[in-house]
Amino acid sequence: MTVRVTLPTVDDTHAFGRRLAGVLRAGDLLLLTGPLGAGKTALTQGLGAGLGVRGDVTSPTFVIARVHRPDPARGGTVALVHADAYRLGDATDPRAEIDDLDLDASVDDSVTVVEWGEGLVEQLADAHLRVRIDRRDDDTRVVELEPVGGDWSRRLTALG
Ligand SMILES: Nc1ncnc2c1ncn2[C@@H]1O[C@H](COP(=O)(O)OP(=O)(O)OP(=O)(O)O)[C@@H](O)[C@H]1O
Ligand SMILES: [Mg+2]
Repeated sequence: MTVRVTLPTVDDTHAFGRRLAGVLRAGDLLLLTGPLGAGKTALTQGLGAGLGVRGDVTSPTFVIARVHRPDPARGGTVALVHADAYRLGDATDPRAEIDDLDLDASVDDSVTVVEWGEGLVEQLADAHLRVRIDRRDDDTRVVELEPVGGDWSRRLTALG
């Protein structure tokens, strides 16, 4: 099954991220795909809000990954690891670079979200959720969630 949702504005994308966060738990891996400016970081901002983590989720320019610790005051219990593998695509051995990332947070204990990670980071977990965002001519976004292994299908049903 694939879930497809239309997101007219960036606020809708943030809200959808908050809703999706409701079915996430430690150990989850999300692979965000879609062209430049599609809204991958915007969706991750919604995830961060929904997970109740500290710090602003931004597009990392000089860092490849950032760890956002849970904020108990905002109901947070699990860290969000936000990675952007865009620049790793040019590396001779991107997989080695990913392995070398000292994330200071393990995938098992965090929700890990990777932009541009397709073909690079699938091995970080047994299963993952593929999230594809596309931009239509009228500037609205369409997000497609595709479960890859694990119990993602069941959880997407719960998402409604
Ligand atoms: N419906 C929408 N959903 C998400 N972003 C939108 C939407 N409508 C307009 N935008 C704008 O599009 C931009 C999306 O930028 P964002 O950094 O999230 O994209 P990205 O996919 O992470 O890009 P990159 O590949 O460069 O990392 C933002 O400026 C946002 O305000
Ligand atoms: Mg981005």
